[in-house]
Amino acid sequence: MNLPSWAVATPERRAHVARVAGLIDQWAVAMRAPEGERARWAKAAWLHDALRDAPAADELAHGPAAADRAAQEGENDPGVLDAVRYHSLGYAHWDDVGRMLYLADFLEPGRSFDREARAALAARVPAERDAVLVEVAERRIAWTVSSRWALAPETTAFWNALVAG
Ligand SMILES: [Fe+2]
Repeated sequence: MNLPSWAVATPERRAHVARVAGLIDQWAVAMRAPEGERARWAKAAWLHDALRDAPAADELAHGPAAADRAAQEGENDPGVLDAVRYHSLGYAHWDDVGRMLYLADFLEPGRSFDREARAALAARVPAERDAVLVEVAERRIAWTVSSRWALAPETTAFWNALVAG
């Protein structure tokens, strides 16, 4: 698989997307995900940042833009589209695709911060996916709060659903 033909992404972005797709596939194998599920995870990974470097894109707009474009191009898997749409914010109603993408986007090895801690989290995903998901959400949300940025309603709903078990 690869980025869609309509992607607007720098070489650095393409390298990030390829690492996300690589990590998510590694997890799919380790977790013995069925072939169809493995393909859904891959699709979400390759789509999620496809418009991240488009002229109108920003941190919050690029997920919805990519999901809308993918739907126009014929993607009709709601789980894949929700994974892409909300990958920056979190989403309370995600199936496994959204959860795996949220994890892989943050834990892929190319990001320069907290390398060792993130690698340790990535290694735990196959055996304890949901526990790691709470830890990753905690880190991502703590970063937003410590930056004095507003939390989107989708993010608080995601967190509340996670801690409600
Ligand atoms: Fe990403």
